[in-house]
This record gives sequence, structure tokens and C-alpha cells, in this order.
Amino acid sequence: MPLIETDRPSGTVLLHAGPTAYALRVDTGAGTVRTLHWGGPLTLADAVAAFEPDAEGNSFHSPLDGTEELAVDGQVRFAPPALDVRYADGTGSVEPVVDGYAVQEDAEGAELTVSLRDTGRPLGWRLHYRVHRDRAVIERWTELRHTGGHGEQPLTLVRHAAAQWNLPVLPEYRAGSVHGRWISEFQLRRTPLSVGETTWSSRRGHTGHQGNPWVTLDGGGATEESGEVWTVALATSGSWRTTVVRSAEGRCSVLTGSGHEGVELALAPGETWTTPVSAGQYGAGGFGGASRGWHAYTRATVLPAADELRPVLYNSWEATAFGVTFDNQRDLADLAAGIGAELFVVDDGWFGARDSDRAGLGDWTARPGVFPDGLRPLADHVHGLGMRFGLWVEPEMVNPDSELFRARPEWVLHLPDRTAHTLRNQLVLDFSRPEVAEWALEWLVRTVDAFDVDFLKWDFNRSFTEAGSTGGLTDARRVFVEHALGTQRVLDRLRAARPALRIEACSGGGGRVDLASLARTDQAWVSDNTDAVDRLAIQHGFSQVYPAQVMGAWVTDSPNPFTRRSVPLGFRFHSAMAGVLGVGGDLTRWSADELDEAAAFVARYKAVRETVQHGDQYRLGSPGDVSHAVQYVARDGAESVVLQWRVGPTGGVPVPRLRLRGLDPGAVYHVDDDSGTLPAGVVRTGAALAAHGLAAELPAGEYASRMLTVRREV
Ligand code: GLA
Repeated sequence: MPLIETDRPSGTVLLHAGPTAYALRVDTGAGTVRTLHWGGPLTLADAVAAFEPDAEGNSFHSPLDGTEELAVDGQVRFAPPALDVRYADGTGSVEPVVDGYAVQEDAEGAELTVSLRDTGRPLGWRLHYRVHRDRAVIERWTELRHTGGHGEQPLTLVRHAAAQWNLPVLPEYRAGSVHGRWISEFQLRRTPLSVGETTWSSRRGHTGHQGNPWVTLDGGGATEESGEVWTVALATSGSWRTTVVRSAEGRCSVLTGSGHEGVELALAPGETWTTPVSAGQYGAGGFGGASRGWHAYTRATVLPAADELRPVLYNSWEATAFGVTFDNQRDLADLAAGIGAELFVVDDGWFGARDSDRAGLGDWTARPGVFPDGLRPLADHVHGLGMRFGLWVEPEMVNPDSELFRARPEWVLHLPDRTAHTLRNQLVLDFSRPEVAEWALEWLVRTVDAFDVDFLKWDFNRSFTEAGSTGGLTDARRVFVEHALGTQRVLDRLRAARPALRIEACSGGGGRVDLASLARTDQAWVSDNTDAVDRLAIQHGFSQVYPAQVMGAWVTDSPNPFTRRSVPLGFRFHSAMAGVLGVGGDLTRWSADELDEAAAFVARYKAVRETVQHGDQYRLGSPGDVSHAVQYVARDGAESVVLQWRVGPTGGVPVPRLRLRGLDPGAVYHVDDDSGTLPAGVVRTGAALAAHGLAAELPAGEYASRMLTVRREV
């Protein structure tokens, strides 16, 4: 069966997205493209027959509101538009004409393009839809083109959403999203949607710690395990805006695109603007099913090297901060190799005059007094220990106290007659300027080559303020979108130039995690908060959309340097083993016993990491529960790993049994518990593990945790 079916006479288009269906009707007569269905499977005949009579009209109502694939501002429409245009004479109010649609199918998927234009005005736009074989995720984006000839005036895209997603009418809606701040990212919240417009946005030029560009909607009754869920994510790393409109009439739509409110784009004659991709997914398997859908999509379609196992890394930031020297990094590298780390990352402080955050950013040469021979000797030492060598960089930033700023003050984002405030003593370089991008690419490639670098931690440590571009952009605010695109181009070219290089996305922790960033990086630093307990809530929110194989997590010292909480080493490891395990403590202060214990945990992680990183993930409860766990099931079904935590004492409250998911009911499984709480030699059928589960009691006391390994009998 084709992935996209059409019925030309009725203008019906049906997209088969995995086990789900999306249908729309292209009405050339009326000049409309309207949503028919987004939900469970339909046949083409069902879609052709799908018909929803417009509600009884009156002079205060638009039947189009909340039903169009990309509503414009114009004609009889009152809902917030996805596309709002202003021409040079001040007119907006678009009158769309539908020129037609086309479908193309290839080996991986199929694409639908619907072409529209404004009546008598020089704007054309195309709605793009892409479905991938066996995936519920549908990718959508819009191309907007000024079709006027030379000498015509530019037009302004006031609002330029990538897509409008319309849900079926439900009695109630609930919206799930993450919010947070530095050291407390990805806090999950689900709240009933009130009538009106609910907007999540970044006005910061980067994805932000305060929110993340995705939203999940349900009718209020979905659970982790079951229920209908509609979810939408935007692949952008600059400013963004997602608005969920719940109309007074009872409809619900999601409008999502790059640029916060007020970021308008001028289009010159002949110019085309392509929005970022907005990906959407319907499923009936609850929030857990939606997350597994996102994880599978990210693996199959987004990540550049999805099949590689991520190495166990050591990062020296919490151990040595800005005080890096050859000797202290060598000592840490020796210890890191001893516990089984596979990648050693030298963090901030290795370059320029960087002995604090006050100077040196922009001067990407090894610190003269500290590394007189560059970093090659250290890289050689690390490689000699059998580890890969990684380096921290922050290419988009500059300290005013730097050689670069003294030479190129005009390269920073600024508005000519406004103050350029520093944050963390730094300013942002304008990556929308080609010469800045060229400069960055040149020194990045040079540094990777000179120091034999295998891995970069690419950081971004301040939000934009007073941002404008002196690089010729027509609208100063456009840089809130264009800077991130410039950065992406540098990342793409860097990867193409050095294909073996691997990159970690970081922005003061998790300030730049999104599908656009993950399309050109290999993993993400999720938070500067390395407290193993706080991290559980952060990881819970992160996992809603992003897979464990990109979720960097370090075991650091106890008490934790930020929170001062003391947590046993086992709990710290179990918390970090839920993603891409790393170690970030000052190993020179760990006792021989702690180093031995750490080595044992690292070995245990390596034995199961394929399942953790590439398996299907099931959240068993949430961090608000007395005890909760995350389960991973290997893709071949042979192994499952459960990481379970309990922070406080139970106070006698019984802990719900761990009922495992995703196992073969007829198979027999052997269960191993690394805390020794379960007796050795537990053998159960998959059916029993699902129906009755395992006793969830953990060792007594605070901060109890364990890893269960569940292996199918052969
Ligand atoms: C950011 C990162 C940290 C560390 C510091 C270095 O805060 O998130 O992990 O790299 O910068 O300055």
C-alpha cells in the first residue's frame, strides 16, 4: 500500500504514518486545505467519506478556525494565524489560492507538497509533509517565497509557523510540557488546557532551559501506559514559539515555529524562507508509547551516528574547573582509565588567558604558560591509556577581555546605539555572518587536527540580549533565528570535514537540547546539576522526547558540589547509568575502595549499555513516587535492564511491585539484582513479570537503588 493515497475528485489526501493516519482535504475551489483526521488508521474510502459539516454559521463565527493546515490571517478567520503577512503597502489579509498538490514516494518514505499562493500578491507557499515507513511521526514544514520580480518591495512574514496541527474535538484537553531553569531543566508538568492561547517560547536565541519546543496533548485521561496522545516537537535551536489554541468553540490546534513573538522576517523578491521541521505524532499507547515513538524516530531519522554505542566518558570540570594543567589532567586521566572510562574530556580553561570566566573566550590556542607545547602531549597520554580525547569549546562566544574581541569588536551581536550587556562576562559572536562562521570552522578543524581531538563538548553559556546583527540582515531581530542556523551550518561542515569527530551539545547544561541540535551532535549535556537525586526528575522530563543514548549523565563527588547532598556511590551510579554514563568527580580524592567500586559499576554498565542506549524505554512510575524505575528492553528482546531508585525511607508505605513491560509473555527470564535484595536465581515467565511483577523492596534507609538484569533463557 502506498504511504500516501489520494482521491483527486474529492481532494482527499491520506497519509499512513506507521499504525496511524492523517488525512486532509485540498479544496481548490474554496482555496482551503483542511484537516480531516489525525488519529488511528483509516482507509482512503473512510477518508473520502470523512465529512464534518461546518457548525451553524452566524456573523460572529468562522467555520475555518481550528480546521486548516496552516491558517492565514485574512478573509473570515478569527483564530490566531499560522501565517501572517504584511506587504510593503501595509496590507495583509491574505486570500489563499490552492494551486494543487503532488506526492512523491521513495524507498524510505513519501512526501506530500501542497502549493498555495496569495491572490494578486507576490507570495507563494508550500506545505510539506513527510512520512517515514513504519513511523507514526509525520514531519511538516513550510516554504514561503516572494514570487515578485526585481524591483518589487520586500514583504514581511509577521508570523511564520512551520505547521498547524489540529486535534479532533474532545470535551477536555490537557497539555504536557517541560519547564525549568539553569540546574533544574526538563521538569515535566501536565495541566488542563484553558480556553485561550497557551504559549511556550524562548526569547533567548537558543532553545533555553525554561522550556523545550515540544508539547503533548491528551483528553485528560491518558496514562503512562494507555490512552490517546498527540504530540508535536519543533526542530529548532534558536528562539521558538509554540502556541496551543483552545478555542471557545472547543477546537484545539498547535501552532509552532521558529522565532519568538515579534521576530519578523523580511522576504525580498525571489527569496525563499524554509521553516524548521515540526514533527507530530499520534499514538494510543499513552505517554510511554509517545516517548518510545520519539526515541525511535530520533534514532532512525535525526541522529547522525545512531547505531554507535556512546563511550563512558570522564570530564574534569567539577574536579579542576579553570585550573587545568598537564599534570592534573594526566593524573585524572590515569585514574579515569583505571575505572574503565573510554573518553577523557578536558573542560573549560585550556586556552587563551582562560584562568577564570572573565577572559580568553575567543582565543582558541592552548594556554601559553600552562600548555607550552599545546595539548598534543596530553592527547597522546590519553590515547596511550586507550581512551579517546575530548575538548570543551564555546565557539559562539567571546570575552571582551580577549585578543579576538580586541581585533573584531564588530563580530558580536549588538545594536549600534545600545549597551551590549555581558552575561558570565561574555558576548555572543554573530554566527549569521559568513566570515564569523568561516573563522570558527577554520580554528575548529585546525584544533581537532593539531590536538588529535576525537570529541568536542560544544557549549553555549549565555542567552541573547540587545541582539542585532551588523552583518546585513534586514531585521535586527532576525538574528534570534539566523544565529542558530549559522551555528548549524558550522556543525554540519565540521562533521563533514572530520567525520570521525563526535560532538556533545551543551548550553550551561540542557539549554540547547532539541531535534535540530541532535541532528548534528551525538549526545547532550542535560544539566549542570549533577546531584543524583535531582537528576532523576530532570531525566524523567528529558526522556519524554529524547532517548537515553543522548542523555549524558555523570557520577560526581559526594556531597554534591551544588546541592551539598550526600548520596551513596551506588545510587549515583544507578542514576547516571540510566543514560550515557560518565564520571565527573575529583577521582584524586576517591578512596581505593571507591575507585574499585566505580570500576565495577562501569564494567556493569558496559555489559548492559547496548540495552540502555538502544533499547525501548519504559518508565515504571515517576520521581514523585515512593520508588520508581526505568526499564529498558533490548531490541532483540533477549535482555531487559531495570534501574530502580528510592530516595527517602518508605515509612512503612508498601511499594508497588515492579511489573515489567515489553517482555515476551511466553519466554522464561532469569533475574539478577545487583543490590542483592532479591534472592539469587529468580526465574519467572514474561507473563508473570508483567502480571505479578517483582517485589520492589530495596535495601532499608535513604537513597536505595539497584539494577536488575533480566535475561531471556536460551
Ligand atoms: C557550562 C557547562 C559546564 C562547564 C562550564 C565550563 O556551564 O554546562 O559543564 O563546561 O560551562 O565553563
